Amino acid sequence: MTNIAILGAGNIGKALAKGFLRTSKQEIQLQLVVRREEHRQSLLQEGYAATLDASAAIAAARVVILAVTPGQIAALNSSIAGQIKDHHFVISAVSSVSIATLRNQLGTQAPIVRVMPNIAAAIGQSMTALAWEDRDATAGPEADRLFQRIGKTMIIKENQMMAATVLCACSTAFFLRAIRAAAQGGTQIGFHPEEALPVAAQVALGAAGLVLEEAAHPETEIDRVTTPQGSTIAGLIEMEYNGFSSALIRGMVTSHEKTRGLS
Ligand SMILES: NC(=O)c1ccc[n+]([C@@H]2O[C@H](COP(=O)([O-])OP(=O)(O)OC[C@H]3O[C@@H](n4cnc5c(N)ncnc54)[C@H](OP(=O)(O)O)[C@@H]3O)[C@@H](O)[C@H]2O)c1
Repeated sequence: MTNIAILGAGNIGKALAKGFLRTSKQEIQLQLVVRREEHRQSLLQEGYAATLDASAAIAAARVVILAVTPGQIAALNSSIAGQIKDHHFVISAVSSVSIATLRNQLGTQAPIVRVMPNIAAAIGQSMTALAWEDRDATAGPEADRLFQRIGKTMIIKENQMMAATVLCACSTAFFLRAIRAAAQGGTQIGFHPEEALPVAAQVALGAAGLVLEEAAHPETEIDRVTTPQGSTIAGLIEMEYNGFSSALIRGMVTSHEKTRGLS
């Protein structure tokens, strides 16, 4: 049984909890640590184990997951400094805060692994990037195995973590916006919104599946959908004329610049 305390039950903390409980209820015991009683009550009503007592949750856990915002992490770490012992294992989902900074703030020699998951962890479909220092060569793979329970993983260097923040986490919003736009297009041409949205999402899932399951290159698959002088190529040309690909690429670069600014 792996005992986990997740400090911070916002968007990502809760998505991780939901994912771990969905995929690994028998193997994982998990507590969410919050700082407001009404938040604790609402989590309890949803069936989560939740507490206001960070110290007790840390003492009971082996894995401590940090899931607060970059602006909140220094205060959190200062409130729990000295409580992370050598048998603990810290995993930080906090963007833009280095392992060295976390180690310094927590005052611990316990292993620290940085992760960049996304909210699809809640349904076991995260894409999580992980980074650790050479000294934590045992804990790193253990974290990797833990996050494989809630999706796919990739191991990166810590200096790639900001890029991973954009590609693994922010991109969830970008693709959701694309699905929303496709659904609105579907409504404009004749489907009710409640029909168009699940259809657009399923088409996106199928397109992603072709890339992942058949190792297909997107352009090869696009060529299979575009008949000469047909409607697909006409739509694609109009979209590219309006900056479809470059809007996505430039949006990702802007997110990366913003992430670097937060560090
Ligand atoms: N959202 C994503 O998709 C995503 C994906 C990957 C990584 N991340 C990273 O994960 C971190 C959290 O993001 P988020 O979107 O989950 O933020 P969020 O929704 O704002 O959640 C942060 C949570 O931390 C809680 N908190 C702050 N200080 C605390 C303390 N001392 N003790 C206990 N709880 C405390 C806040 O509680 P209150 O409600 O009381 O303020 C809030 O519920 C960020 O660094 C972000 O970059 C996010």
